Amino acid sequence: MNIDKVVSEAEAAISQARDEAGLDEVRVRYLGKKGELTALLKSLGNLAAEARPAAGAAINSAKQQVKSLLALRKASLGAEQLATIVDQEAVDVTLPGRRPALGGLHPITQALARAEEIFVGAGYEIVAGLEVEDDYHNFEALNIPEHHPARAMHDTFYFRDGMLLRTHTSPAQVHVMENQQPPIRVICPGRVYRRDNDLTHTPMFHQIEGLVIDRGISFADLKGTVTEFVQRFFEKDLELRFRPSYFPFTEPSAEVDVQCVHCLGSGCRVCSHNGWLEIMGCGLVHPNALEMSGIDSEEFSGFAFGMGGDRLAMLLYEVDDLRLFFENDLRFLRQFN
Ligand code: PHE
Repeated sequence: MNIDKVVSEAEAAISQARDEAGLDEVRVRYLGKKGELTALLKSLGNLAAEARPAAGAAINSAKQQVKSLLALRKASLGAEQLATIVDQEAVDVTLPGRRPALGGLHPITQALARAEEIFVGAGYEIVAGLEVEDDYHNFEALNIPEHHPARAMHDTFYFRDGMLLRTHTSPAQVHVMENQQPPIRVICPGRVYRRDNDLTHTPMFHQIEGLVIDRGISFADLKGTVTEFVQRFFEKDLELRFRPSYFPFTEPSAEVDVQCVHCLGSGCRVCSHNGWLEIMGCGLVHPNALEMSGIDSEEFSGFAFGMGGDRLAMLLYEVDDLRLFFENDLRFLRQFN
């Protein structure tokens, strides 16, 4: 029997094993059921009875030796693998960290918030209004009956069940008057929808509605309020021009032009070279509109206005193309963070 030779072969094989699988092959080759040392044990029967105890002891000690060599190699293989992993997966702690990207408010949201702040400071309440309205609140209660030509100005998105996307924020006035007696002082900023889509019109845009009702409210209150607001909003002493106009739910009605915020009236691209920019429609609330919503038009009077929110944002930030607001190009939006 050549135990020493088997052991030294096993030792060589163990030290050459490159990984755990290789090491296990070596274990099977020497210690497995059909392994070389196992075979030696099985062949003990062929020896003379006196020789068996010594040979058995020698084989068992050889087995122990191989087992402990296997265990040692296994431990050192583990350490080698760990070292490789540590080496390959090293983290460069000097690299800058990944930070969550900071978002910002959309410029129109910022402009609306700026307007809200001014009116809240003057004691107005903000009402949310509804974007999906019924025909009654969007038209009828605003003195715009079914065949009134003013409905043609509002190319409306209708739903099948007679509901519609509000074409202006004025229906919010109706809800307020239905639910509240004067004194009323509210603004309603929000989205409105019309079937328009070209260079200067988008199917969705923003308005800021204002409504004030009390005893003795006159056109002078409207003028003063609008003038004060514009000066605070643009932080400039801009001139205003009230042009007579027509809205079915106000009488008298006006449209308000503001001196071009860009050229201050001398004429430029922003104001199409006429020095003025239209920013809102307004007027004294028509007695019919008051009465229809349950307010006594003999006792109370009021004014209302509807400003273009996108217009205000364009002028405030000197943005010359409305569509930029709705393209969601981060290069544009990031400038307002
Ligand atoms: N709702 C009108 C529009 O969208 C604007 C307006 C509001 C006019 C309030 C007068 C009073 O054109």
